[in-house]
Amino acid sequence: MEEALSSKFYITSPIYYVNDIPHIGHAYTTIIVDSLARFHRLKGDFVFFLTGTDEHGQKIEQSAQKKGQNPKDYVDCIAERFKSLWNEFEINYDYFIRTTDSTHQQSVQNAFLKMFQKGDIYKGEYEGNYCISCESFFSKSQLVNEKNCPDCGKETTLLKEESYFFKLGAYADKLLKFYDENPNFILPKSKRNEVINFVKAGLEDLSITRTSFHWGIKLPKELLENDKNNQKHVMYVWLDALINYLSALGFHNDLPNKMDFWPANYHIVGKDILRFHAVYWPAFLMSLELPLPRHIAAHGWWTKDGSKMSKSVGNVVNPKEVVEAYGLDAFRYFVLREVPFGQDGDFSQNALIERINADLSNDLGNLLNRLLGMSAKYFNNTLEADLSQLQANYNEELAQIQIILNSLESQMEEVQINRYLEELWKLFSLGNGIIAKKEPWQLIKNGKRTEVAQLLLLLANILLKAALFLSPCMPRSAEKILKVFGLSVSTEYFRRFILQGELLDSVVLKPIPVLFPRIEERLLQDPKTESETKSKDSKSAKLDPLEVANPISKDDFTKIDIRIGTIISAEILPKSEKLLKLQVDLGEARPRQILAGIKAYYTPEELLGKQVCVLANLKPAKLMGELSEGMILAAKDSNGLAFITPQNKRKDGSQIS
Ligand code: ME8
Ligand code: MG
Repeated sequence: MEEALSSKFYITSPIYYVNDIPHIGHAYTTIIVDSLARFHRLKGDFVFFLTGTDEHGQKIEQSAQKKGQNPKDYVDCIAERFKSLWNEFEINYDYFIRTTDSTHQQSVQNAFLKMFQKGDIYKGEYEGNYCISCESFFSKSQLVNEKNCPDCGKETTLLKEESYFFKLGAYADKLLKFYDENPNFILPKSKRNEVINFVKAGLEDLSITRTSFHWGIKLPKELLENDKNNQKHVMYVWLDALINYLSALGFHNDLPNKMDFWPANYHIVGKDILRFHAVYWPAFLMSLELPLPRHIAAHGWWTKDGSKMSKSVGNVVNPKEVVEAYGLDAFRYFVLREVPFGQDGDFSQNALIERINADLSNDLGNLLNRLLGMSAKYFNNTLEADLSQLQANYNEELAQIQIILNSLESQMEEVQINRYLEELWKLFSLGNGIIAKKEPWQLIKNGKRTEVAQLLLLLANILLKAALFLSPCMPRSAEKILKVFGLSVSTEYFRRFILQGELLDSVVLKPIPVLFPRIEERLLQDPKTESETKSKDSKSAKLDPLEVANPISKDDFTKIDIRIGTIISAEILPKSEKLLKLQVDLGEARPRQILAGIKAYYTPEELLGKQVCVLANLKPAKLMGELSEGMILAAKDSNGLAFITPQNKRKDGSQIS
């Protein structure tokens, strides 16, 4: 890797709608941005990382109405949820923008005025369909079944209202020319044709103001003065939203002027909003006579059981719960490593556990443990070696290491973070391979202490270089690993150990506890269980019906502790769509708290006093921040779900055998 002068690096996440609490889709995008930002800080660039919330528009106005709140109180509350989640997740953003900020409104009004004065905006009447959920206009021919949104499938609304239009059609050729001259503008490159085809199919002028609701930015005062009628217009929420990328830099507003960060290096978005970023946004910028961003990078969707995760579907995975159960870095690693950038991925605890055990605990964790174990045992944690001898003996390995390290930056530049991690992991395989091949425990027995010290020092150098590159994706773990060598994540160490290829010739290791213990079972109760069991069943259906798929012994069965208990209290968990919170008397010192996914089948009242079967030795888990100390047994078929109840009343705590 070459030493480059530091440069300015501007990267953004989408600003998220505040009608929805953050889920793993939002966390995913923001973690990608955070990783790229950290990578560039590590290299010594001046980084500006922007995230925030999108707070205007009809959808938000309606959400607030539904909650009986005024829009401002409502958006204040949800914006805070995003902020606090990012703080908990140690998302290192430089600025959090809210589209209700007065400085942002200033920028939007000024941008509107400029585009108007340029002749790109005219008044007309909009007649057509609108999807409130996507905040997007569609012509009749684009609709599915004549009324549904082609993007999300929901029913659209027919609109007929006075509107200002942006001359989007006039920019089609300029856009096509730009895509042609900038083949890396849209990442991954596979998404490029989609955008080009959309533009080639013809661009209609874009309605950019609305008059049928109020929750939005007003037109610039210059336009209000000459026409009273203009009072009723508010800006189209996407025009308002996209300009956030400029207003955060002080574009014609009262914030400090940071326009020297423009153009943005990356706008990272999900594929659902690629069109807005790769078509509308560049056209607005051309109208404003500003340079275009270097890359729009669009990732795929996280699905749950095959459908896109969204609040309206009710299949949302709460990233906070996952992080509380499995740890922040394991979650970051999983989402970054599991899916190729641009493709969809299905979220499952099994896949997460598999990654933790195979990649983190095994490949990375073992290498570190073996280094620490042998260094303590053989050398009292102090390693020393003659570097020129080490280089001569491990000539080939060092060359391989260099090849791996050199490949990493370009993966990050193309936002192929899964490939970046995959490459990085080759270092751990290489390290573990050297141990397997040299068998240092044999060498020690044969008195070859110098060789073993050399080998361990090589491993130490591999791990410290790997940890520097790991730090953008797993900052906490990288920091812990580097601390073993008395180092930390810093541009200075990156310069020395990566850019200049320095090797340590001696080090005193500071042992740390195991970084990634193996996970033996799911830590969260997961609605996914059902479908995963189903798929296992379908495998066993292929067997002879009398053959048992997973036979267990009687001894195995005695490990399962099922007891009778009485439900003495049941309440709704306001946060959860599925769970009820129960207190169940198992004849123990206190009742057990059990969260059960049965809200759809039972009201709290009808549960009171019922006797049920409880799996009593299930490892306690936290769900929605609440402790659950067991599982209620039930059977489900197409008629619904029913508890298993003893035929006659039994004493609470009786065991089932
Ligand atoms: O579109 N999988 O906001 P939004 C992966 N305010 N990523 C997902 C996801 C999923 N299931 N669901 C959401 C908006 N995302 C506008 C943006 S920007 C000027 C305005 C992520 O709250 C992904 O990044 O609907 C997606 O593009 C974004 O959240 C949409 O968030
Ligand atoms: Mg959305």
